[in-house]
Amino acid sequence: MLNKQTTEMAEALISSRQSFLPKRLFQPGPSPAQLEVIFTMAASAPDHNLTRPWRIVICPQESRGLLADAFARALLERDPLATEQQVQDAMVKAHRAPMVMLAIVNARGTESDVPLSERIICAGCAIQNIFLMAHAMGFGASPTSGKSMYMNPIRELFKLKEYEDPLCFINIGTPDRSTPAKPRLLPSEFVSTLKF
Ligand SMILES: Cc1cc2nc3c(=O)[nH]c(=O)nc-3n(C[C@H](O)[C@H](O)[C@H](O)COP(=O)(O)O)c2cc1C
Repeated sequence: MLNKQTTEMAEALISSRQSFLPKRLFQPGPSPAQLEVIFTMAASAPDHNLTRPWRIVICPQESRGLLADAFARALLERDPLATEQQVQDAMVKAHRAPMVMLAIVNARGTESDVPLSERIICAGCAIQNIFLMAHAMGFGASPTSGKSMYMNPIRELFKLKEYEDPLCFINIGTPDRSTPAKPRLLPSEFVSTLKF
């Protein structure tokens, strides 16, 4: 059983989490031991039929050049007239956060009849666990996406199977500064009660 102190800590942790976009994330990132804990928490996400319909691929520092190339190729695929500056801007994004990984959903695998919406919810819960654990350790983190993420250069770089789709990049690092708390929805704005 969890006690009152744990409940208050959970409330403080969840309510104080906010996203820090990659350009605001610097070294240090999580250590291998911290990453192990972060990923162990991801595995606590609810999982219909225990099919674990998601996986994560880390893009380490030594592979960021390949990620930059993939961003550049994806941009040029959809806009062959992109300027040199636009290509450079796309490539710079690959080098930002100390820790970058891609969350991937098994969207069309036939080994389970769990619907896609449930597979994505499962992955989303795992991703939120990652954000919360990273935040508990004092790191900043964020999901990012962008048109390139859905294109072949990224699919090929991360070796996605034909039945898999990318969900988002997960960026983790140390924020340059804190930011004011964002206003959040009140429960009354999104909760209603079924009336009989
Ligand atoms: C799946 C997903 C992808 C996102 N991709 C981007 C992105 O590419 N660029 C961006 O500026 N914000 C992106 N966002 C939004 C931010 O990462 C962040 O979640 C949002 O600003 C809300 O901030 P908060 O977590 O502090 O409430 C994305 C959010 C989600 C859920």
